Amino acid sequence: MEDLLVKNRLWAAGMTAKDPMFFKRLAEQQSPKILWIGCSDSRVPASEIIGLMPGEVFVHRNIANMVIHTDLNCLSVIQYAVQILEVEDIIICGHYGCGGIKSALESQSHGLIDNWLGHVKDIYRFHENTIKRLNSDQEKQARMCELNVIEQVHNVCRTTIIQYAWQAKKKLSVHGWIYDVKDGLIQDLDVTIERVEQLPAHHQIKL
Ligand code: CO
Repeated sequence: MEDLLVKNRLWAAGMTAKDPMFFKRLAEQQSPKILWIGCSDSRVPASEIIGLMPGEVFVHRNIANMVIHTDLNCLSVIQYAVQILEVEDIIICGHYGCGGIKSALESQSHGLIDNWLGHVKDIYRFHENTIKRLNSDQEKQARMCELNVIEQVHNVCRTTIIQYAWQAKKKLSVHGWIYDVKDGLIQDLDVTIERVEQLPAHHQIKL
């Protein structure tokens, strides 16, 4: 642990050497324009992989980058980001090789987390016919990682927070990305939603 504190001192000194006003500016306020919702996986550090500095991205991470309708933690992050910080872009970023997705496709228990991963098993159930047609476990897991991102993009858009924002004519786009831990590259899954009309009718809340 001591090593980490030493590293912190070196990092802070380095930042100040490059930009003497850096911490002073950040201490006054944060005004990120992006909300990142990603996996807790240690190989997917949000700001680092998109080359952003402290202060530039608001972050929520959990296992398998999920947005669950009743998760007050995630909903509070989204509400604060949209209504107070007024972010214009929300990125759901999944990643290939996600342990959460992999274990949700198996029957081995991992304890309490099995309940959380039940949401991924639901996604498998929705797309079982497509997934079953894929040849290898690797392909199945990779497709599930992508389908999970797409599902979470929809889940964000279905929240009252996003629907209120669109109703108020706020500019707000929700993107689905996937990161590959093998090469460090992100792909845009091209499933961006920026208008309520892009959702199925029963997901368009009449406010
Ligand atoms: Co993961």
